[in-house]
Amino acid sequence: MKLLVTGGAGFIGSNFIIYWLKNHPKDLVINLDKLTYAGNLENLKDVEENPNYRFVQGDICDSSIVDSTMAGVDVIVHFAAESHVDRSILEPSEFIRTNVLGTNILLRSALKNKIKRFHHISTDEVFGKLELGEKNKFNERTNYNPRSPYSASKAASDHLVRAYHFTYGLPITISNCSNNFGPYQFPEKFIPLAITNLLEDKKVPVYGDGLYVRDWLYVEDHCRAIDLILQNGKIGETYCIGGLTKEINNIEVIKKIVGLLGKTEGAIEYVKDRPGHDRRYAVDWTKIKNELGWEPQGDFDQLLAKTVDWYKQHQDWWKSVKNGEYKNYYQTQYGIK
Ligand code: NAD
Ligand code: TYD
Repeated sequence: MKLLVTGGAGFIGSNFIIYWLKNHPKDLVINLDKLTYAGNLENLKDVEENPNYRFVQGDICDSSIVDSTMAGVDVIVHFAAESHVDRSILEPSEFIRTNVLGTNILLRSALKNKIKRFHHISTDEVFGKLELGEKNKFNERTNYNPRSPYSASKAASDHLVRAYHFTYGLPITISNCSNNFGPYQFPEKFIPLAITNLLEDKKVPVYGDGLYVRDWLYVEDHCRAIDLILQNGKIGETYCIGGLTKEINNIEVIKKIVGLLGKTEGAIEYVKDRPGHDRRYAVDWTKIKNELGWEPQGDFDQLLAKTVDWYKQHQDWWKSVKNGEYKNYYQTQYGIK
């Protein structure tokens, strides 16, 4: 099987490519990635020599590169996106361009190339927010109610993917997952930002009252879920994917990281809240459990400790990313502009 992975140099995409080549060694994987600030070929060092892996630098908004890369492809796993809520608040345009227009370019090309499966990676943030103390969770029937430019752009892309299925018969699946964490996550996101700041003896900025709740999903559990959807998921269906955390808020997450690193809680700094900050996310993953036999493995504390350990062991990776030096390194090492 020949897979086209978009955004494979980012956090989840690179974890997915490593996972896929390990578990499906006969498959060919093409990684189409623009290498924005969030794309990092260092993440893929372990597979760069693998003859079944190929990297193409390109923008999903560029229909000629998309068309040529898609020739002969069986399955698309579409990760490429602008993914950070705070950046979308500062400047939404790039989010609309990549997440909405780019997805449309991919869908058009997938139709033209008679792709067997277009799997779209989306987020639980399209469903909006839940309140603290409520018991309810997001599921596949929850109405869309995005509240940030990021989640609005992802919601638009989900609608387009479904529209191509219903209108043109494109064989699609969609997954809406919760907040991922694990190796190679760009240190602008909460958990790696906290870990790396603490390792640098800097403070950890906590928005507002810190009583915001996320449903933390370990990235490898996410990759396994996508694998099961690609193998046995029903065409046209959506699957919600979540983690094993029990209503843990941001302050509690930080306190755990502070403890794991032997720091003090004085390192926590409350800062101005994010505008439109969604209070709580929680995902009901009953459908994927019942239909595909998936469930997250391992407990949050153990996976958080593993993640903290990874960042301790890979200081070169995140230091160069944080310094912004990594782009120069790519040019020198890989000859990529
Ligand atoms: P990321 O920001 O780490 O990586 C995004 C990748 O996409 C980068 O490699 C970047 O270079 C590439 N990219 C961006 N614009 C591009 C373009 N125009 N053309 C080609 N490549 C482009 O993101 P991530 O955290 O790995 O998220 C991957 C997907 O998962 C996204 O679609 C995101 O919405 C979704 N998602 C992420 C999370 C999470 O917690 N990280 C949770 C739910 C859903
Ligand atoms: P983030 O990792 O940006 O993911 P998302 O906003 O997509 O859920 O943020 C996770 C939570 O952490 C969210 O409630 C915002 C909060 N947060 C902070 O308190 N401080 C920070 O510096 C960041 C980046 C996030």
